[in-house]
Amino acid sequence: MKNVLIAGASGHGTMVLDSLIKEGRYKVIGFIDSYKRKGKLVNDLEVLGTENDLPYLMNKYNISGIIVAIGNNWSRKVMIEKILNIEPKLEMITSIHPSATIGLGVKIGKGTVVMPGAFVNSNSIIGDFCILNTNSSLGHDGQMSDFSSISSGVCTGGNLFLGKYSAISLGANIIENITIGAHSLIGAGSLVIEDVLSSSVVYGSPARFVRQRNPCDPYLNGDNNHLSICKLSI
Ligand SMILES: CC(C)(COP(=O)(O)OP(=O)(O)OC[C@H]1O[C@@H](n2cnc3c(N)ncnc32)[C@H](O)[C@@H]1OP(=O)(O)O)[C@@H](O)C(=O)NCCC(=O)NCCS
Repeated sequence: MKNVLIAGASGHGTMVLDSLIKEGRYKVIGFIDSYKRKGKLVNDLEVLGTENDLPYLMNKYNISGIIVAIGNNWSRKVMIEKILNIEPKLEMITSIHPSATIGLGVKIGKGTVVMPGAFVNSNSIIGDFCILNTNSSLGHDGQMSDFSSISSGVCTGGNLFLGKYSAISLGANIIENITIGAHSLIGAGSLVIEDVLSSSVVYGSPARFVRQRNPCDPYLNGDNNHLSICKLSI
């Protein structure tokens, strides 16, 4: 079994740990985290250092893969770039929880996580480094671009196109044949009945445009480290 690390020891990191343990394909050696104290135990696994310690940790523990468990789409992208800069040969692994349902002809990219009870319906294409959270349902022929995410309880009709870095928040519903541009945010509980332009915040039922956003705008409660991670990319 290959030895792997999880980057990000927050709540999302523990969900990814649970998924990897239940899959049984990898041995998780520990976490790395830019902000948590080295030596801290998270679900009995140690925070072994930060991304800067990767060369040492890879050698010491014979690590060949990593999964970046950061919920904010832009922060995840910045951290993945940083890690690949430090260790270009590190394999970016994927985790699909055993209780997720994957339809015929579905393609799932590297670094993506599919959480418990998620449904990915036939012929959908999921890019790299996406998140499909608990009990989300992506309709048939959906496309999720790299670094996009759907939160728990999201339900989309067929033929969704979700742009790069865009996030659909908790429990939102999206009718069929909708295109959502890049860097956009659909607020929790929304009902989306028309296309959404790039870099937009929309919410409500039906969802209406609220304001424009830029990639460094946080959208998750407790997203305290997002701004400092964001600065790494500027
Ligand atoms: C969209 C979101 C970021 C809030 O956006 P915001 O514009 O900063 O919202 P504010 O908190 O400033 O609220 C502004 C107004 O919009 C309303 N509002 C906020 N979010 C709303 C939503 N999702 N649907 C409807 N109305 C909403 C507020 O009640 C407030 O109304 P008021 O002016 O009448 O008091 C937030 O609702 C959201 O969806 N976050 C993502 C949550 C999530 O999915 N987390 C994932 C966990 S895995």
